[in-house]
Amino acid sequence: MATLALPFTRAQSERILLRKAMPEDLDAYVEMSADAEVRRYLGGPVSAEQLRAHIETRGITSVTEDPGAFVIVEQSTGALLGTLMLERRPAHRPGHVEPNAEELELSYLLRRQSWGQGLASEAASLLLRTAATQLRDQTVLVVTQTANAASIALARRLGFEYVSTFTEFNAKQWLGAGRLHRLGAAEN
Ligand SMILES: CC(C)(COP(=O)(O)OP(=O)(O)OC[C@H]1O[C@@H](n2cnc3c(N)ncnc32)[C@H](O)[C@@H]1OP(=O)(O)O)[C@@H](O)C(=O)NCCC(=O)NCCS
Repeated sequence: MATLALPFTRAQSERILLRKAMPEDLDAYVEMSADAEVRRYLGGPVSAEQLRAHIETRGITSVTEDPGAFVIVEQSTGALLGTLMLERRPAHRPGHVEPNAEELELSYLLRRQSWGQGLASEAASLLLRTAATQLRDQTVLVVTQTANAASIALARRLGFEYVSTFTEFNAKQWLGAGRLHRLGAAEN
């Protein structure tokens, strides 16, 4: 799979800092990632103990080792709010706009107490805006379950447009797409 060359490791906006994961993020990261409500459309619950043991073995920095992976941190408190990823969608998986392409794919996850405040929108806009200054114009995808209304609403707010639905992981998936430079210039 082609790797993504994203030449920045931090970005900030009014309320949000995007950065790489650090040891102080561990408790909040495990709590978020094992939260059944957060994982409702992402394959269901996982054991917090097993997840913590796995991350402690690999090191917390492993969760953001991909160039497009970031934690979302609240500027005012330094608290972890969520995670955000821009990565290449492997060609062998379903859900593409261009045949045999490995388009960029955006995904996002917020702790439950951070929902409903526009924080995911702010963080995703920041990442798209920053990436648009560094990368050539290209297609960006969002893939999310058709049942995940909050996620589809966020994708639409960011400027993604519906392309199609398809089935993966025994669930119906919504495929949305946009062009990076247009998404990066959108007012959210
Ligand atoms: C998907 C997810 C990140 C969306 O979070 P969210 O908080 O709804 O998204 P936004 O940041 O865009 O916030 C929008 C909401 O904040 C409200 N809001 C409050 N203050 C706001 C502000 N200053 N600016 C913008 N919106 C604001 C909006 O009215 C909207 O509310 P509504 O949902 O009642 O309509 C969240 O539901 C989540 O983490 N889900 C679990 C993980 C998941 O399924 N991820 C998808 C995989 S790709």
